[in-house]
Amino acid sequence: MTEEDKFYDDAKKYWEHVSPTVDGMLGGYSHISSTDIAGSNKFLRPFIRGPNAKTGTRRALDCGSGIGRITKRLLLPLFQTVDMVELNEEFLKQARPFLGEHASRVERYICSSLHSFTPETGRYDVIWCQWVLGHLTDVDLTRFFKRCRAALAENGVIIVKENAASSSTREFDENDSSFTRPKQLLVDIIQVAGLTIMKEEKQIGFPKNIYDVWMFALR
Ligand SMILES: C[S@@+](CC[C@H](N)C(=O)[O-])C[C@H]1O[C@@H](n2cnc3c(N)ncnc32)[C@H](O)[C@@H]1O
Repeated sequence: MTEEDKFYDDAKKYWEHVSPTVDGMLGGYSHISSTDIAGSNKFLRPFIRGPNAKTGTRRALDCGSGIGRITKRLLLPLFQTVDMVELNEEFLKQARPFLGEHASRVERYICSSLHSFTPETGRYDVIWCQWVLGHLTDVDLTRFFKRCRAALAENGVIIVKENAASSSTREFDENDSSFTRPKQLLVDIIQVAGLTIMKEEKQIGFPKNIYDVWMFALR
């Protein structure tokens, strides 16, 4: 097994032992979920509502969706349909009861790792990537961003919401096999992928003892 195969395999094994609940998705921090969703809503809204809104609301893609915490609370209330892509089959299975009556507006439940997933060309108004991109290597993340760009509908946006390390180099977490990148490294990868940052903002209201969380809107 190559080092890279081990990196992906270890993450897959880690998530197999995590409970399919909001608390499981957030590593015991389910109490920050409403602040997170409110911050995301405020960040996204000007793109899809109001005088300067150009982005459509037909279809969104939730990347590394887990059981659908973001799909349920943020995306389904704003978009006609949502697709979910997630590595762990059990989380996707549990998504249906978790989403309840709204599950029927999820068009595609896709079980795949993002590093080997190609979203359909031109399909999405919004591609949401949150708390999952640390599970991709820099090279795979660059390639994934390029594929996401091709998957945007006219005036579509990719939203990235990720932890940012305060160190100058990325930190590796052996526990779940993921990287936490410093903000600048994430920005470098975004630029290498040929994407433009339309807007960026730090999430406010989170506990002081966790990483800073940054939101970017890209196209
Ligand atoms: C921290 S949870 C976040 C879930 C969701 N984005 C949220 O904020 O509620 C990370 C999720 O990413 C998934 N994941 C991990 N590695 C992945 C990969 N390579 N491709 C797709 N999903 C992955 C995990 O199974 C888990 O559901």
